[in-house]
Amino acid sequence: MGPKRRAAAMTGALLTVFACSPSNGATALPSDQPPIADAGASGIGDRDFPLDGNGGYDVSHYGLRLGYTPRTKQLNGAATIQAKATQRLSRFNLDLSGFEIGGVSVDGQEATFSRSGDELTVIPAKPLGKGARFVVKITYSGKPQPVKDASNLGTYGWIPTSDGAFVACEPNGAKTWFPANDHPADKARFDFEITVPRGLTALANGEMVGKPETSAGRTTFTWRERHPMVTYLATATLGRFEMRQGRTPGGIANLVAVDPSFGTALDGVYTTTAAVTDYWSEVFGPYPFSSTGGVVDNFSAGYALENQTKPMYGGFDPDESIIAHELAHQWFGDSLSIERWRDLWLNEGFATYAEWLWSEHKGKATAQQTFDSYYERPATDPIWAYPPGVAQPKDLFNESVYTRGAMALHAVRKAIGDPAFFKLLKDWNAEHRYGHVTTEQFVAMAEKASGERLGRLFDAWLFQPRKPVTVETQ
Ligand code: ARG
Ligand code: ZN
Repeated sequence: MGPKRRAAAMTGALLTVFACSPSNGATALPSDQPPIADAGASGIGDRDFPLDGNGGYDVSHYGLRLGYTPRTKQLNGAATIQAKATQRLSRFNLDLSGFEIGGVSVDGQEATFSRSGDELTVIPAKPLGKGARFVVKITYSGKPQPVKDASNLGTYGWIPTSDGAFVACEPNGAKTWFPANDHPADKARFDFEITVPRGLTALANGEMVGKPETSAGRTTFTWRERHPMVTYLATATLGRFEMRQGRTPGGIANLVAVDPSFGTALDGVYTTTAAVTDYWSEVFGPYPFSSTGGVVDNFSAGYALENQTKPMYGGFDPDESIIAHELAHQWFGDSLSIERWRDLWLNEGFATYAEWLWSEHKGKATAQQTFDSYYERPATDPIWAYPPGVAQPKDLFNESVYTRGAMALHAVRKAIGDPAFFKLLKDWNAEHRYGHVTTEQFVAMAEKASGERLGRLFDAWLFQPRKPVTVETQ
């Protein structure tokens, strides 16, 4: 997130616009009906986003075959989802927003389905046993409708552009282009096969498989992300792009694509992405994925997003600081993912702290100087009233989660000293690579690493609606 988006977040906070978040729509079943035996829950169990994700199963793989025509904005999709039942299931939900469904099958047998709001309920021909692995196939078509959140989340999901689509989905916009267990608590591997009019390029996560194939005026791009990924990091951004491909000096494959209107940004983004990826690999531990890169597209999102292997910059030429931020997320947020949105500071606080570390590394402001400049803010500043360890669903990406989250980390660094702190960042990554993390786990690891009790410090920085006093920072 750059200063621009921070300013937007601040303005939004003052507007007190109240709007239904997309997750607060109708429930899957009218509440006056008795619960159905062995039905999977319509939400994964995140108190701040009750209908996001679903219960009763765990997805291991999404195979997405998509055809898109920018002129008509028509998307034709076929999703093949491999999952495992975590309970006996007579029916289960997926999240999907809009589209006509062509058909649904479970393990090759036609299934019935019903829809209510963004909940798609699938009823297999026969119930799935607890522990059963199963395959759901869904064909669907229509014009994707991005989420246009009237509070502070802005526009996200599948967003049509003049020459294609800008696809950035945090927090819950994956459902605007494929049926998903759309919550970060369920990670899966992804294969993409995306067909677009010839002359356009489709960019998804991971690496390209084979060469693009053209026939009858349309080109198919095949991509594979072979490491687990949360749904909000999936992308299928497409359009006209200028591209540069190679390796970082440290040897990591690097692909940067920019919309032609940002042509002059190409070399700078490519070079900075390479330098930052290599530097974070030293500071945080080995780069978790098989390639790095970035995409600058012509939709003015007002934000960037750390899409796995390919951060997206929404309509601006990113500076070093924001590239440092999005690439730090490859470790904090992408490899290590949150299980519930109230732990978002584990993504945004760490990525913001990485901006401060990058500045320090480049001989500009030290992290201490940056910390001090924020600490000077008067006790009435909103970052003190808004504790970063508590989710604000209507203003999820609020400034406190970023800035005060980073300050919390700096307070830990001061309390335990540089050697223990930087070892902690590496151990945290090594221990939870490709998995999930919670605030409680971080607190426990920080205390163990330093042999110090840090409960008061974390409480003051993450949970109290007031400015921490100096004694709480040491
Ligand atoms: N995680 C992104 C970043 O820090 C911000 C995503 C904002 N998403 C949104 N819908 N506004 O760079
Ligand atoms: Zn971020």
